[in-house]
Amino acid sequence: MKKLEQIYEGKAKKVFSTDDPRLLIVEYKDDATAFNGLKKGTISGKGAINNQMSNRMMQLLEEQGIPTHFVEELSERETVVKRVSIVPLEVIIRNISAGSFAKRYGVEEGIVFDEPTIEFSYKNDELGDPLINDRHAIAMKLATREEIDRITELAFEVNSFMRGFFSGIGVDLVDFKLEFGRLPDGSIILADEVSPDTCRFWDSVTHEKLDKDRFRRDLGGVEDAYREIMRRVSGKAGNR
Ligand code: TMP
Repeated sequence: MKKLEQIYEGKAKKVFSTDDPRLLIVEYKDDATAFNGLKKGTISGKGAINNQMSNRMMQLLEEQGIPTHFVEELSERETVVKRVSIVPLEVIIRNISAGSFAKRYGVEEGIVFDEPTIEFSYKNDELGDPLINDRHAIAMKLATREEIDRITELAFEVNSFMRGFFSGIGVDLVDFKLEFGRLPDGSIILADEVSPDTCRFWDSVTHEKLDKDRFRRDLGGVEDAYREIMRRVSGKAGNR
């Protein structure tokens, strides 16, 4: 499988067409942004870690019956994925208060919820990805009721599996963001990535942050945190 032409460059990945119209190649970069691109930087080694961690998670999720875009890891930073039309929603699941939830509702970080929450943001950089509810998304024709229901069901299934998986490697899964896509037959699959860029991971004992918040909040030790979470994920996945 070879890259033909670059069809898209995002903040953290490039996407290329291939000789198979159903498949794309994504290439993960070390570039990092936060606050809708206002803060820019580089996290050395991030591209390789996010590629490999996301692929490992998608493979594990496939084993749980969750359909994903993952096809084949080509190299450290490159992966073949199914071409989808992305549903323009960021789907956020939270287990513990943090980030924009804590800020919006004026609560401290670290409160463990009795039930996980779900929220949707409209993927639109000019508007700063505003929070939106299911009926707004349907009104905007971003997705149908059936699609939203399927996305919700899959997102909670992803959470159930990942919470248990990370708990087994001494990590609390605080929250994460998912993106879904449509295949030509209309079915919904998990797309984009599952990585320390898109999840909050706290060490279960020390509560040390092992994710992109170290970059967002200038906490230092960014590369070490990415390496540590990857080390734990590969250890666990390798021992199955
Ligand atoms: P938030 O608390 O800032 O809303 O973030 C919730 C989760 O979503 C957190 O795990 C980080 C992730 N996230 C992204 O993947 N991309 C984004 O652009 C933002 C703002 C958050």
